[in-house]
Amino acid sequence: MAYKVLNNILVKDTNSTSLITLNTSLLVLVINKNTKNNKAFIDLDKTSKGYIKKSISSHLKDNGSSVLLPQISGIKAESIMLIKGLDENAPTHKWLSQYQGIAKLANKLKAKNLNILCGNVFPKGKNENWLIEMVAKTIESNAYIFSDTKNKTAKKPSLKNLTILTSGLSGSDLSKAKQSAKKGFAIGEGVNSAKYLGDMPANHCTPRIIEKKVKAMKKDFPKLKIKSYNENDLAKMKMGSFLSVGRGSDEPSRMMVIEYKGGSPSEKPIALVGKGITFDTGGVSLKPPQAMDEMKWDMCGAASVFGVMSTLARLNAKVNVVGVMACAENMCSAKATKPGDVVTSMSGQTIEILNTDAEGRLVLCDALTFVGKYKPRYVIDMATLTGAVVIALGRHASGVMANDQYLADMIINAGEDSGDRAWQLPLWDEHQSCTKTDYADLANIGGGREAGTIHAAAFLSKFTNDYKWAHIDIAATASYSTPVKAGTGRPVPLLSELILSKKLK
Ligand code: BES
Ligand code: MN
Ligand code: ZN
Repeated sequence: MAYKVLNNILVKDTNSTSLITLNTSLLVLVINKNTKNNKAFIDLDKTSKGYIKKSISSHLKDNGSSVLLPQISGIKAESIMLIKGLDENAPTHKWLSQYQGIAKLANKLKAKNLNILCGNVFPKGKNENWLIEMVAKTIESNAYIFSDTKNKTAKKPSLKNLTILTSGLSGSDLSKAKQSAKKGFAIGEGVNSAKYLGDMPANHCTPRIIEKKVKAMKKDFPKLKIKSYNENDLAKMKMGSFLSVGRGSDEPSRMMVIEYKGGSPSEKPIALVGKGITFDTGGVSLKPPQAMDEMKWDMCGAASVFGVMSTLARLNAKVNVVGVMACAENMCSAKATKPGDVVTSMSGQTIEILNTDAEGRLVLCDALTFVGKYKPRYVIDMATLTGAVVIALGRHASGVMANDQYLADMIINAGEDSGDRAWQLPLWDEHQSCTKTDYADLANIGGGREAGTIHAAAFLSKFTNDYKWAHIDIAATASYSTPVKAGTGRPVPLLSELILSKKLK
């Protein structure tokens, strides 16, 4: 099953495309300092008898302002939106927001086709190809509407086709632009698959249902190697920590491994490990009822692995990546793990589970030990791990902690380049003291109310000594809480950028 929303994304140049005869539901003109020199724009304005230019001067005064025009006689487009473009100094995420708005408007207007004249202005340090990739990615991922669990009131995305109109590209530049659109489309598809798994209610998205969806990837992408481990397999590998989390649930745990080999056989893989708690009640350390429904998004780390792997396969990327999805449901029952229980992790270290709600680190630690067998170049885990990261950083940035500064820097750069931002928190020796207990080698909580995000990372760092590792806490970024509850598909854009740019040496 493909998770694309749009049927296709085309790139055409206005040197060979008339704006007057474009057969489209919505034509968006992003107006910037270069637009007035575009011949196709001049012709369009002439046909409108100067109405377009006049609308620009009277309505597009403030940054980001826009105006929607009805159909103009002599022009085929059913409606035209004029929007004031950003300047070079605007940061990448502001560009994303602008195009997000365009996708939402297209769906609101029930537009089937969308044509956008982007104009050749882009953020400092970026180029036309960045712009086109961003537009394709952003429109695809914001055309998405979740409606699988509605029968009678389902709204389907109306948008089917996007054409990105460039100004003055031809030959190899135009082919590069088309490649960029393809890349953005594939990233957008990856984002949508991650959103979809997250948005699915927990009773429709158990570890075994995720397993089915992972196995189904093989149909679309035969190149992927897919393995799934059930509870017996996990027990054989001595993953006592992972297994302790699903103990209270009737839904058995699963660990899925997706291998993608597009690079040279000798190149060591990058490993991605995702927290996949399909629902987090907190276990015996039960969560308060407020907004507990949001714990269906507690598998977004695993969903981001799913999304990135599909993007890599869609693009036939020349990289080697192994993705691990550690899935379990955290419930309370007579069989559930109790505070004070001690389990033995795959690493041999024993863990006293002082709080069953600190369960993400318990599945991740065994998955992190497991992934060492791939001799990875770098390991990155993604997890909706702590409420504390929402307090520390707010909703705009994911939290990064690492045992390798170069890797942390590259993650933060990829966040900036993709508009899917991340920010680093320290992970110092001093933070390690909090995992001490009299009853086991480690405790799964420590530090009280202080630096909860860092203490969770400090726990994980006890399992990642053999390789270069970074942890991304996405509790604040993987889903919106208000005003509309929805998955975001983050950090698929960041990870795709990091891996596909091949800047990570
Ligand atoms: N899944 C939660 C973290 C979370 C909170 C994600 C809010 C998204 C939004 C995680 O398993 C958890 O419960 N963490 C505890 C850790 C604590 C017990 C040390 C937390 O943050 O309260
Ligand atoms: Mn929890
Ligand atoms: Zn959790």
